[in-house]
Amino acid sequence: MNRIDRLYMEMIRFYQGDPRHIQHFVKVHSFSRLIGQAEGLDEEQMYILEAAALVHDIGIKIGMEKYGRSDGKVQELEGPAAAREMMTRLGFRENVISRVEYLVGHHHTYKDIDGLDYQVLVEADFLVNYFEDDLDKEHIRKSAEKIFKTETGKKIVKEMFFPETFQKSETWAQDALQDLEDFIEEQGIYIRQ
Ligand SMILES: [Fe+2]
Repeated sequence: MNRIDRLYMEMIRFYQGDPRHIQHFVKVHSFSRLIGQAEGLDEEQMYILEAAALVHDIGIKIGMEKYGRSDGKVQELEGPAAAREMMTRLGFRENVISRVEYLVGHHHTYKDIDGLDYQVLVEADFLVNYFEDDLDKEHIRKSAEKIFKTETGKKIVKEMFFPETFQKSETWAQDALQDLEDFIEEQGIYIRQ
């Protein structure tokens, strides 16, 4: 198992008995990975993004245990040190730990987003929270217009919540066939029928 997957298993253990929070970070990790790849983040940025997505809500449990609340402020206060402790134990490099610590400590702050890893993490968290918090469409639309910056994130939010913006044309099947024929002609490929 690679180090990211060990962190994944460790976060499942951390939230043992709490499937809601486990499934939350699983989804945020999956959307982060997808958006990050599509937006061309390099290997190091992807590594940081994946680690940050897995641990981003680590402060919720600690906040609940310590103060009986888990708002953004408590998370940003308690999350970074917990993330550092877990990642140090698993042997992550210092530069990775310190950026993840920063992202965990800022993921509820939406101004001054200072990198694609940060932007993608925020978008992935919103994609999941819109659904899990059962927000109405108007709220989602207004929020998404402010938050989403990447083309991939914008596409996913539209596909998932506003499919009417992607209605297929009446002739989509014929169009696709015509595109294929044009391509074959362009390439000079002969297909025997
Ligand atoms: Fe989250």
